[in-house]
Parts: sequence; C-alpha cells; structure tokens
Amino acid sequence: MNPTSRSSLPTPSGGAFPDSFVWGAATAAYQIEGAWNEDGKGPSVWDMMCRKPGAVFRNHTGDVACDHYHRHREDVAIMRQIGLQAYRFSVSWPRVLPDGTGCLNEAGLAFYDRLVDDLLEAGIEPYLTLFHWDFPLALYQRGGWLNADSPHWFSEYAALLGRRLGDRVKHWITLNEPQCFTGLGHIQGLHAPGDKLETGQVLRLVHHSLVAHGRAVQALREVCRQPVKIGISLTSQVCVPATDAVADIEAARESYFAVDAGLFCVSMWGDPIYLGRFPEQASARFPGKIPEVSAEQWKIIREPLDFLGSNIYSATKFTRTADGKAHGLDKPAGNPVGSLGWLELEPDALYWAARFQSERYGRLPFLVTENGFCGLDWMARDGKVHDPQRIDFVARYLEGLRRAVAENIPLAGYFYWSLLDNFEWAEGYRPRFGLVHVDYETQARTLKDSALWYKTVIASGGSDL
Ligand code: FCB
Repeated sequence: MNPTSRSSLPTPSGGAFPDSFVWGAATAAYQIEGAWNEDGKGPSVWDMMCRKPGAVFRNHTGDVACDHYHRHREDVAIMRQIGLQAYRFSVSWPRVLPDGTGCLNEAGLAFYDRLVDDLLEAGIEPYLTLFHWDFPLALYQRGGWLNADSPHWFSEYAALLGRRLGDRVKHWITLNEPQCFTGLGHIQGLHAPGDKLETGQVLRLVHHSLVAHGRAVQALREVCRQPVKIGISLTSQVCVPATDAVADIEAARESYFAVDAGLFCVSMWGDPIYLGRFPEQASARFPGKIPEVSAEQWKIIREPLDFLGSNIYSATKFTRTADGKAHGLDKPAGNPVGSLGWLELEPDALYWAARFQSERYGRLPFLVTENGFCGLDWMARDGKVHDPQRIDFVARYLEGLRRAVAENIPLAGYFYWSLLDNFEWAEGYRPRFGLVHVDYETQARTLKDSALWYKTVIASGGSDL
C-alpha cells in the first residue's frame, strides 16, 4: 500500500485513562425494578407490551424482574463491593407520575430519593437517565410522542426530578437511545408500544423527541440547586474502517453519519442537538417530510450539553471500493458473537465512535454510557459464574478506547451494561448481560468472574486489563 494514502494517526501508546475518568455500570428501571403496580405506580407502555401474547420471548414480563425496587440496598452494597465509582440508572416516569403528568406519586419519588442517598453514602456517583423507554401508558393513550404536548410533559417530569434530586444528582441523561424507541418501538413494532407508523408520523416523533430533550435540559438547568452535567445517550451500529487507509476511514465516517430509513443512526439526533440542523442526507431520504422546526425550537434543541453520551456494542468494517462506494464488510465466518446474534465482537468500535463523534460534534468529553456482552452464563458446580468471554470482550473494547486516550480525545468514563442480568426487552430473560448473575427464581445475586475482574480494572484506573 502507498504509505502516503495512510492517515497520520499517532501511534497508540497504550496511554493511561485520565484521572477524571469514571468507571461505572448501568441499568434501566423497567429492566430491573419489578414492582410494576406497587405503591401507586402507573402502567407504562412496556407493561402493556408484555401483556401482548408473543410480543416477548416466552411471554416474559418485567413485573418482578430483579426485584430491585425491594432489594436496592443489597444492590448498592454489591456495587460497592465491585468498587463502582458511578452508577447509571433510570427513573420510571409512571412510577413518579402515574398518569405521566399532573399528580405525583410520593412513594415512587421516595424510592429514588433513598436510592440516591444510599449511592452517595456508598461513595457512588449517581447518573440519572430520565427516560429509558417506559413511557407512561396514560400519555401514550393521549397520542404519546406524536402529541405536540409531549415535550411539555417531558420537561415537567424533568423539572419534578430536578427539584427533588437535583441537590444531589450532578449527572443527568435525558433520553436513552431515541434510535431504538423510534425504530424498534414505532417503526418495526418490536418494542413498546409496538407501533408501525408511517414515515411522516415517525418524523413528527423525532421532532418532538428533540424538543423534549432540549426542554428537559433547560428545565434541569433552571431547577437543580447546583451546577449539573447533562447529556443524551445516542446509539447506532458503529462503522469502523477496515484499514487505517484514508479512503477506508472516510468510507467509515460517511457511513457512520449516514441516515437510514429505519433511523438507526447517530446523525438524525446528533446533528440537530450538537450542530443545530438535520443531516444533509435527511431530506433526500425523506423528501418533503422533514419537520418544520422554528428558530425558537432550534435554540431549545441545541441547548449546549456537557458530554457526548454513547451506547456502543457492535460495529461493521467499511472499505472504499474501486467504484468509490462505501462498502460494509461481512464478518468473517466464526467471528466471536454474544448470545444475541447482533452482538458481534468489534473492539475498535469505542475508539472510532469517540473519534468520529468528537471530530463532528466538537470536543465534548465522550462518555460511554453503555457497552457490554451477553453470554449464556450459568452457575457452575463450584457455585461460581465463569464468564471469560465477557472479560475478554470488555478488555478488548477498553484497549480500543485507550487508543483514543493516546490521541487526546477527551473521555469522561465508561459504564458497563449491565450491573445485573435483567429483562432484555423483547428477548426476555434469556440473554445475560450482567456483571452479577441473577437467579430469577430466588433473586439470589452472584458476582460473576467478570465483576471481580472489573473491580481490579477499576482499582488500577484501567491500566490492568
Ligand atoms: C441497549 C439498551 C439497554 C439494553 C442493551 C443491551 O440498546 O439501552 O437497555 O437493552 O442495549
């Protein structure tokens, strides 16, 4: 290969993670809490979805899940045992506002109050996600995200949490993966609420979710009684270059920010939020259907954020073919894969996502709000859960992230998905993503080998992988 066609990347030095780098693990309310109808909680669209026969693997539900609502003290003690510095969790909107708006449910709010206090007492920094997909059923029945009032509903909810928890919670995430609740939930109908909307409606939803995000950011900044850091968790398949040749890097970058019909792309939310415009490709992809956004709304959507939150799992390698096209390569036969077929090992994913996003969206600290591996873990005869593949998966991804460190891409932290095995949406309890094994019959928790390994990683500041 002609050396001049290579990019001038500094050689990775295996650099140390910055001192400020935060090591955490993540969960989401519906996936772990259970107590679906206790203490005044209202139903969410996931409570509805799980009652649709066949919608979820073996008709599993989140009714009990990991029973975290009743066992959160034990779970915080486990986090402490692992040495987590931070814990990302989400609040169930209908647990605190049973109808989604209006009357608050004090018992629900008190649960999060206690959780935050317990975390702080254990020296663990709470990272609170406002919306991780359990939309209040009452609001869905009023049109859900298609209702023009939805940004208002969401900002009221954000303000309520900010007023109550904003004296202690310093890190906030507005929406988790709008790509998924849009694509899986409202285009493919595989996730709650199980709709298959036509394109115009889907884009209306995108518009409202963007304004909802921005209004929540404003509300939090207004009501929290201390300076807070706010972001959003975006996702997509990462596109990584097949080689370090400039042409392949460009092919990967172009594909990473491309707009696809299913909206499983970073740019449809990232460009509006960080750049104040829809991606150029969007109007070609959806002719005549791009929502009208007023100047006032753009200002709201573009409210400055404090970090680039990203959930990153798998990636496709791209190359530039002779005819100039960006071409995604199939994985080689036998490529390592998790117990869900989409989770194929591609350790460069973290590096390229961090690099491409910071190039395009500015040098905000990059925060990996999720990354993890699902296996077929079970308890061995010695009473332990051996999960060497998870350890290897995470170590390789973190090695990839070190390359970003070596190139001075600002990094804020890493949250392993997930702390506990949990309800994996339409896949039910079959895939196990946890550092901690959960026996769903007894609710017994067992630290997997990976949890003990992660503890040493954290203790070494990421130098012992
Ligand atoms: C992400 C979701 C999270 C979990 C992981 C495996 O897309 O945010 O809730 O399902 O995937």
